[in-house]
Amino acid sequence: MRYAPAAGRPCRLVVLISGTGSNLAALLDACTDPAYGATVVAVGADRESAGGLKLASDAGVATFVDRVKEYPTRDAWDLALTEHVAEHGPDLVISAGFLKLVGPVFLDRFEGRYINTHNTLLPAFPGMDGPREALEYGVKITGATLFFVDAGMDSGPILAQAAVPVHQDDDVETLTERIKVAERAQLVECVGRLARDGWTLSGRRVTIP
Ligand code: GRF
Repeated sequence: MRYAPAAGRPCRLVVLISGTGSNLAALLDACTDPAYGATVVAVGADRESAGGLKLASDAGVATFVDRVKEYPTRDAWDLALTEHVAEHGPDLVISAGFLKLVGPVFLDRFEGRYINTHNTLLPAFPGMDGPREALEYGVKITGATLFFVDAGMDSGPILAQAAVPVHQDDDVETLTERIKVAERAQLVECVGRLARDGWTLSGRRVTIP
């Protein structure tokens, strides 16, 4: 399936977050350059405490929060999240530290244009505790993976990967921070290319022209 770049206007991004939003901050910064080709039209979170919400509102970007607990079922949450994202008419939806698996309604609407950044080299160490597991396993290289989200956990088609060395004296914090530096750069570079050039998804193969 081919996704063409938006003609004559910046690519509309909706960014989903749960945490401090350092990846979001990097995207907001990149979007201040018109040549980047994208604009963040809304930021959504699954919790009021997500620090990135303030970054967004300070930048004049619309925000919304959908807490799972506010809905009677997970499917009802999934539907509400889908509608809130869709209201902003995104070309591309980015999970930047969004700590929730979306459901079938969301994927039906956005699969193929919903990407996530993960802080290991997938398929090794998926899930919430990747850097800790990589460190405990003793790998010497880990990194960051940008991928299209599918129905599995961190299992979708891979867009880009950046390798990060594990140092002998690393603890989880130092390794996580080193990965985040590479992760942010990769996210900004790759989202810009997707925005400007579009992309093609063919099974697990992703091509950016
Ligand atoms: C990223 O490292 C992501 O891979 C992980 O959470 C982090 C989000 O950080 N799932 P931030 O909120 O963008 O600072």
